[in-house]
Amino acid sequence: MCGIIGITGAQSVASQLLEALSLLEYRGYDSAGIAVVEKESGSIFRLRAAEQGGSLHHLIGSLGKADTSRFEYCAGIGHTRWATHGAPTTVNAHPHFDCGSSIAVVHNGIIENHHQLASDLRARGHVFSSETDTEVIAHLLEEETADGRTMKDAVVSLLTTLRGAFALACIHKDFPETIYAARRTSPLVIGMADSSCLLASDVAALVETTRNLFELGDDQVAEVTPIGFKVYDQLGVEMTPKPIKVGWSIEAARKGGFADYMSKEINEQQVAVAETILGRLNESGDSELEELEIDEASLSKVEKVLLVACGSSYHAALVGRHAIEAWAKIPAEVDIASEMRYRPMRIQENTLVIAISQSGETTDTYHALKQARSQGVLTIAMTNVVGSLMSREADGVLYTRAGPEIGVASTKCHLAQLSLLECLAFHLAGAKSALSGSEKAAIAGDIMNLPKLVEKTLARQDQYHKVAERYSEFRDFYYLGRRSGFPIALEGALKLKELAYVRAEAYPAGEMKHGPISLIEPGSIVVVVAKRSSLWEKIMANVEEMKARGATVIAVIDEDDEESASLVDDVLETPAVTEICSPVIGVIPLQTFAYSIAKARGHDVDRPRNLAKVVTVE
Ligand code: M6R
Repeated sequence: MCGIIGITGAQSVASQLLEALSLLEYRGYDSAGIAVVEKESGSIFRLRAAEQGGSLHHLIGSLGKADTSRFEYCAGIGHTRWATHGAPTTVNAHPHFDCGSSIAVVHNGIIENHHQLASDLRARGHVFSSETDTEVIAHLLEEETADGRTMKDAVVSLLTTLRGAFALACIHKDFPETIYAARRTSPLVIGMADSSCLLASDVAALVETTRNLFELGDDQVAEVTPIGFKVYDQLGVEMTPKPIKVGWSIEAARKGGFADYMSKEINEQQVAVAETILGRLNESGDSELEELEIDEASLSKVEKVLLVACGSSYHAALVGRHAIEAWAKIPAEVDIASEMRYRPMRIQENTLVIAISQSGETTDTYHALKQARSQGVLTIAMTNVVGSLMSREADGVLYTRAGPEIGVASTKCHLAQLSLLECLAFHLAGAKSALSGSEKAAIAGDIMNLPKLVEKTLARQDQYHKVAERYSEFRDFYYLGRRSGFPIALEGALKLKELAYVRAEAYPAGEMKHGPISLIEPGSIVVVVAKRSSLWEKIMANVEEMKARGATVIAVIDEDDEESASLVDDVLETPAVTEICSPVIGVIPLQTFAYSIAKARGHDVDRPRNLAKVVTVE
């Protein structure tokens, strides 16, 4: 959940650390900190801050007052934190020191046995200054190196001592040019530039400096110096590092002239969908998913699909289910990863498990995938991050090609997931020979038309903003939909909750009369997905029920659908599209609606309170 950076050999190492941290801030922004070895004094310079929404800014100000010439070309580490153990305060901000401030450590993940380790260390005289699990690492390294053991060997020994998931980087005052790193489960990437070496929890922090990137493997240790790095396994035996290919440009990770990342990312959705579909199907109805590395013969044996995910990715999974059932004509079920992983899994033979995750790192989804795989069924990871955990765990991988998504609320990655799930459902239908030639051509045409329709929908954003302005003061929202409209309602409600901090409940429209309708009264705002489909009349009957109880109804409708418009109070018009493909279009006005209300209420849409972009804790 946190962001880690390490740089050695650069001239202005401290300011470069802060610059790189600004690209990692989306991973957590409760606090930030850096530590750099000062060669001459033989000590470690440390700066930390925990300022709501402004830790990095604070650090930049403090660094401006420091004499940075003392630590040029030395090794430094930095961290941006999303609090798990210990409150978001400066004392809990990373980097953490050992007793003698000789070693500084940054860490992402959770040390599961930290209570036991800390109590043993305390019994042996160590004094702790934070409430974090991370601090045990600094004290363990202090003990390990006390008898002359090298830092490298001490870090290798951590792989045996520590339980849990971690990516860590540390420096020692006596080795001013070296960074030591290790990882288990949480990712860590190493980059080589001209006369410096870097490491980070995310490639986004490194691509500006170098594209010569390598992946640190699970249970491996790295010793990083300005002229190169070495990688060791759990036994301390040197290994060959694995190079990583990255297609992203650094510009893609910047705001591109928009007020915030979220509006930039909403406006990139046409490209995200177009890139995701590109080359994966054609007009004559053929699909091409060779990259999956699972052949059609294996897919033809699939009798059931189980989709698993969290948050917006879960909503995408619900859409995927409809597409699979409609086109591949096999049963599909959807599960929330945090529930699935703790149920006794009884997955039938010939089930295909699809784990969906923008980050590819969400702990619950990762473990659900891992457990499913251990049952011997075929698994696919669908993620936006090349080389992410899930991409390495599954039998096959499909990447959404949305580019980096920095805003905490998922937008372009969600649309890319919806499009890719439709491609996959279509491919599965092909493998199962479930569609006629003309059906295939028609569906392929619908999917390939999506980027154009997304563009047309985005062109209507001003209208969506105007509607949203009228509702920014309200506090009780209900989102309703049926079939493919229900996941749209769920996603719209999630966006409003996470961005505007407003209560928003989503229900299948037909479910309202089984209880929730008793909440409807004058002042209730009902947002209904009423695009034309086989269930349009039923949803309009549900609208009547809401209006009869005094609700104000806003409807997502097809453009120029005057009949629908006449039955509700406000409309969000979108291009007409077939029902299975409709979520790709229908969700856009609801993203903009939530964005506008959040802005009107004065919230930071890129960094909503209490949330982090990547959820690597349970
Ligand atoms: O990286 P993942 O797709 O696995 O993340 C899952 C959820 O944490 C994520 O979708 C979350 O709900 C977003 N904040 C939604 O906007």
